[in-house]
Amino acid sequence: MDKLLIEGPAKLSGIVKISNSKNAYLPILAGVLLSSKRVRLKNLPALRDIRTMVKLLENLGVKSTPDITKANYSFLADNITSLEATYDLVKTMRASVLVLGPLLARYKRAKVSLPGGCAIGTRPIDIHLSCMSKLGAKVQLEGGYVEVSAEKLIGTRIVLPFPSVGATENVMMAAVLAQGETVIENAAMEPEIEDLGNFLIAMGVKIEGLKTSSIKVQGTTVSNLKEVEYEAIPDRIEAGTYLMAALATHSEITIENAIASHLDCVIDTLKNMGAKLEIGKRQIKVFASTLKGVNIDTAPYPGFPTDLQAQLIALATQSNGQSIISEHIFENRFMHVPELNRLGAGIVLKSNAAIIPGNLQLKAAPVMCTDLRASAALAIAALAAHGTTQMQRVYHLDRGYDGLDIKLKNLG
Ligand code: EPZ
Repeated sequence: MDKLLIEGPAKLSGIVKISNSKNAYLPILAGVLLSSKRVRLKNLPALRDIRTMVKLLENLGVKSTPDITKANYSFLADNITSLEATYDLVKTMRASVLVLGPLLARYKRAKVSLPGGCAIGTRPIDIHLSCMSKLGAKVQLEGGYVEVSAEKLIGTRIVLPFPSVGATENVMMAAVLAQGETVIENAAMEPEIEDLGNFLIAMGVKIEGLKTSSIKVQGTTVSNLKEVEYEAIPDRIEAGTYLMAALATHSEITIENAIASHLDCVIDTLKNMGAKLEIGKRQIKVFASTLKGVNIDTAPYPGFPTDLQAQLIALATQSNGQSIISEHIFENRFMHVPELNRLGAGIVLKSNAAIIPGNLQLKAAPVMCTDLRASAALAIAALAAHGTTQMQRVYHLDRGYDGLDIKLKNLG
């Protein structure tokens, strides 16, 4: 997509089906590198980040075969020819650093470009690297690359200084082929971590403590890993985005392929604002609701997700009364605010908090997408605004929202 024109105020209706989770599939794809047996993955979302990760695997020597639908893939990592994730790929997608743990564990060496800064914050990978050191790896930084090597990895107890999602995933994967048991304390508890754990368990790995902050992985060998077929969980952030789009436009829609328990804090927050929701099995129904303002802080799971902060701000512009939404995960994740203000949102930023007056009539204007979730927030605001909003740089949306334009069109 080049640009998106959204005509508002829109009324949405009908059913939207949520795609499988990008942030679950990215580490699972990296996990393909652990095994020499076939890995079949079902219903991958059609997203740029997924294509980038598949390309990275292919560059490393993984054979990848999509079926005719291009949604199901078969992978075979029986002949890895490179141990390097190059700058050109890592700079387009930081999740490329997730190949570090599996490559190090299986081949005892890996070279990955340092990701550098990004639109939402500095996002260092120091926690990933210190964990690899604790497992026995030598870590060297040179020429913008990090090189890790080890004669062998030895399982140990690792206490994360912060429950980093990516670091937890990288250590879990490295621990699969380490000697003995690895215990990760203060581990991230996001549903995507549990999903990676379930994928590894399906491969034959023994893991305990999923869904808790203390995860135990028993090391095994490549030859013990089994062929596996796996389908990742639905995308909770995509589901949350459509929830908020429906509420911002006083619409009634049904969201299918959504696991409500992965959105507990989000659903509680929206209900406290006045949202009328009906929770079913893998389904959430949203009814036209009158909302009040909210005060909320983003936090690691099970707290309110940073990946829905921008969309909640867009929704808060349509609620009655002031909202204060504070960001605690990333230091620069308010790039959507000046763009929302171009639509008349009147948001004031004070350090890491956005103060949203609410109950404002937004008016269409040309806006610029700055990152994935910022783009989703602008789409929500555009649906509520009067007139036709032109969203530019919508390639950000292609990274993480499978067919957003088509899904919105289908909703009317
Ligand atoms: C994952 O990023 C997600 N990405 C992000 O999704 C999400 O916003 C984030 O988790 C938080 O939920 C994927 O799953 C691919 P972190 P990740 O390591 O793993 C700091 C989206 O829109 N930190 O938990 O990179 C870091 O700078 C996105 O889909 C260190 O300081 O997140 C940040 O402030 C973008 N050192 C905080 O921790 C480290 O070594 C959380 O990062 C690692 C992280």
